[in-house]
Amino acid sequence: MKIAIGSDHAGFPLKNEILKHLEAKGIENKDFGTFSEESCDYPEFALKVAEEVAGGNYNLGILVCGTGIGISIAANKVPGIRAALCSDTFSAHACREHNNANILALGQRVVGVGLALDIVDAFLNAKFEGDRHQRRIDKITDIENKYRK
Ligand code: RB5
Repeated sequence: MKIAIGSDHAGFPLKNEILKHLEAKGIENKDFGTFSEESCDYPEFALKVAEEVAGGNYNLGILVCGTGIGISIAANKVPGIRAALCSDTFSAHACREHNNANILALGQRVVGVGLALDIVDAFLNAKFEGDRHQRRIDKITDIENKYRK
């Protein structure tokens, strides 16, 4: 499994904790920035990670900003991306099982490191259940296609 990861300045410290966690578990990953706590704009990093995941270069993505809100909104503008903002472990596995989420978004100012790492594990270990859920995802894709230029 290959993971693309990114954050803005407000998510930078938590992103580093997640990177250490992935390394410790031997999970292949690439950090798409930002690389410091200097102020920056979260849509840039959302776009990088979302394009890598939507393009098939990475299986899943992880994005972190202050709340996780801005970076997930931005990532969800890329066709094929289903970014789920999670602050609990139930949502983290359910978003994979039911929504086939391909990006996990986290808010560094919302969750502590311990919970965030449990959320990451729940997300990465869960599997899409298909069946009726695929029908619903197809309807999301229909919405994307309706507005595709
Ligand atoms: C940065 O201050 C903050 O606005 C950003 O990280 C994020 O929370 C936006 O949704």
